[in-house]
Amino acid sequence: MSAENSEKKDIRILAIESSCDETAAAVVKNGREVLSNTIYSQIDLHTLYGGVVPEIASRKHIEKINQVIKTSLNEAGCTLADIDAIAVTYGPGLVGALLVGVSEAKAISFATGIPLVGVNHIEGHICANFIEHPDLKPPFMCLVASGGHSHLVLVKDYGEYEIIARTHDDAAGEAFDKVARAIGLGYPGGPKIDKISKEGNPDAIIFPRGKVEGSEYDFSFSGLKSAVLNYLNECRMKGEDFSQADVAASFQKAVIEVLVGHSLKAAEDYRISTFAIAGGVASNSSLRAEFVKECGSKGIGFYYPSPVYCTDNAAMIGVAGYFEYIKGYRSGYELNAVPGLGIGEKQGVRKA
Ligand code: KG4
Ligand code: ZN
Repeated sequence: MSAENSEKKDIRILAIESSCDETAAAVVKNGREVLSNTIYSQIDLHTLYGGVVPEIASRKHIEKINQVIKTSLNEAGCTLADIDAIAVTYGPGLVGALLVGVSEAKAISFATGIPLVGVNHIEGHICANFIEHPDLKPPFMCLVASGGHSHLVLVKDYGEYEIIARTHDDAAGEAFDKVARAIGLGYPGGPKIDKISKEGNPDAIIFPRGKVEGSEYDFSFSGLKSAVLNYLNECRMKGEDFSQADVAASFQKAVIEVLVGHSLKAAEDYRISTFAIAGGVASNSSLRAEFVKECGSKGIGFYYPSPVYCTDNAAMIGVAGYFEYIKGYRSGYELNAVPGLGIGEKQGVRKA
């Protein structure tokens, strides 16, 4: 065999993500190298309404998706002829928004014959950690905290997941967004609470740390959210002012204590020596600092993605798609949007 033939062929994945309010495409080489990562954020549009409006999101995806894909291919220096597979988010997410990406991916696959692989959005968030950390390999445990999800996941191998804990009500990001709105910071709440908390006293108000009876790792944030709303109502009824920074910092401390506490308890109980975080909330500066400190003191290796790979993006879908692709998973043209797709679940994705 010639040296040329024995060289491993590079695999380039074109990834498409449209599950919520970001229209995104990326080209990822060999599962870890991001050749391009194009994101059209609709955030300014939805800010007008104080949150994501699903119908507007779908319409905007339709307007933007072709251009976002073209830009991504150009920036990667590729054409479709260089692409080995198309990875697309098919759930969980908003059904109309997901359908735009799924239909686009199916159309490109049909027109070109490039294989199609449906990808789980949450698994994508977890895989974002592989981009900047070549040394990170399964097994490890990952906290995924986003606007719609809060899960502790055991990553047993590439593409093999076991859910250790979940939220029983609000997701962590949802709590950030609701509290931010209540104290007048607006949408999206997470980054705003992160910023203003630096000026506040995290011990000014003692908010409850949510617990779930009978499941020590699971999360609950609705009680905390109600406690913040009650505190604000009491202030208003007494005609007293409240400090936005103190409420934000005290709320944030309560969320972080629960997220970090449950995560490290589970990591220790499962004898896990490597821990990662993922999802929009993983870009929270105090959460990262607390994990760095706690993991450091316990001798647990800690990994987190840069903020651009924490919030929704297509590069993470390209990474997850690569590991599915090399395991032989493919999707047919019956691939559909699955708004409630669970972690580790497959619908319309099977071994070829
Ligand atoms: O992963 P993501 O971009 O979208 C979903 O899949 O939901 O996460 C968005 C969530 C929002 O709730 C946002 O407020 C939160 O992540 N978030 C943050 C920060 N940046 C984004 N939460 C806390 N601190 C941040 N710095
Ligand atoms: Zn997400």
